[in-house]
Amino acid sequence: MKLPEELTAAAEAYRGEVQKKLDIGREMLYLSQEDVKRVPVTPGEILDRTEKALIAYSAKKVDMPSKIALHPITDTFFHAMPAYVPEEFAAGVKWGSCYPSNRERYGVPQAQGLIIYSDHLSGLPLAVLDCKYVTEIRTAAVTYTAAKYLAPREAETFGMIGCGVEGKQHVKNIERVLPRLKRIYLYDRYEKAVDELIGAYQTSLTARLVKAASYEEVAKSCAVIASATVASEGYHPVIKDQWISRGQTILLCEGHTLYEDAVFKRADKYIVDSRDQVEQFSRYGYYPFGTPPIHAETGEVAAGRAPGRERGDELIVGNNFGMAVEDMFVVRLLFDRALEHNIGVRLPL
Ligand SMILES: NC(=O)c1ccc[n+]([C@@H]2O[C@H](COP(=O)([O-])OP(=O)(O)OC[C@H]3O[C@@H](n4cnc5c(N)ncnc54)[C@H](O)[C@@H]3O)[C@@H](O)[C@H]2O)c1
Repeated sequence: MKLPEELTAAAEAYRGEVQKKLDIGREMLYLSQEDVKRVPVTPGEILDRTEKALIAYSAKKVDMPSKIALHPITDTFFHAMPAYVPEEFAAGVKWGSCYPSNRERYGVPQAQGLIIYSDHLSGLPLAVLDCKYVTEIRTAAVTYTAAKYLAPREAETFGMIGCGVEGKQHVKNIERVLPRLKRIYLYDRYEKAVDELIGAYQTSLTARLVKAASYEEVAKSCAVIASATVASEGYHPVIKDQWISRGQTILLCEGHTLYEDAVFKRADKYIVDSRDQVEQFSRYGYYPFGTPPIHAETGEVAAGRAPGRERGDELIVGNNFGMAVEDMFVVRLLFDRALEHNIGVRLPL
């Protein structure tokens, strides 16, 4: 995909502004995870950037080949995730990994990696940044976008399965899109994660955080259920089809790991972030029983080009496996703000 000619002057002007703060070609900005967290951005901005990313992707306004993957050990992966967004003058690649046993083996989170952010006019590197916080906030924002269009706005119950890095971020701001929540059910096979989540966020939420005793309790109690656990190879479902009812909204961060396949097959609408990536991940073996027909991409629904929830009794599944374009929309914002606030370390090229 090429930069549209009518944007060339604006792209040069933007580069000129960056050049005033960073000597492009001689230095780059390095942002550690702590630096990224210090950049002043609001949850509303992240939600807005992420929704725009989903829309731009589905409108084919970005260049984003499907992620390519390496799978060194069972249930682990590295993903190379490049994207170019001409209208944002943003180009780069995330080299992200997920190693679910990292916490037990090495005491660190499962999701790791770096982002290289580049100047699309010269190809020169502008920044290298830790990707953990970017991944964390944009992934929750994808779920919020999906919830906004697929869940009933009057939903009073939300379930979070997996209360680690992503689960905590999901719960933290969920009331922005589901403002009538009364109870949020939490379940994690590691009970301490639930306790930590309650300790961190109960006071800032209106809804009551409830420690669920089982998957079944979450499945039977919640209008909307999100999950962020482990993207697992093989088929070991823990949530039974019979526990899921019409009218529920199921939002997945980790593919089909947790649910019996019948849930997906009987969904009234099955919505994904990227048709191409679903195809690709099917080839990697993630969907051994195939996927149901895809109703639409999340970005098509957010843009109003395909219907989201139309009736209260629809069972809707949103399967958002993550896209590089979400990272690039957020990184463009973080990069500009980091330069503005002089955050990060300049390294020579
Ligand atoms: N879709 C995306 O864009 C995207 C982005 C980032 C992460 N993810 C996925 O989200 C998941 C969570 O990532 P994270 O960074 O929060 O990891 P994390 O390790 O911080 O948290 C995962 C939590 O899930 C719990 N858990 C694991 N398996 C479980 C199960 N079967 N039942 C209940 N709880 C379980 C763990 O105890 C842990 O507390 C991973 O699968 C990751 O691949 C998806």
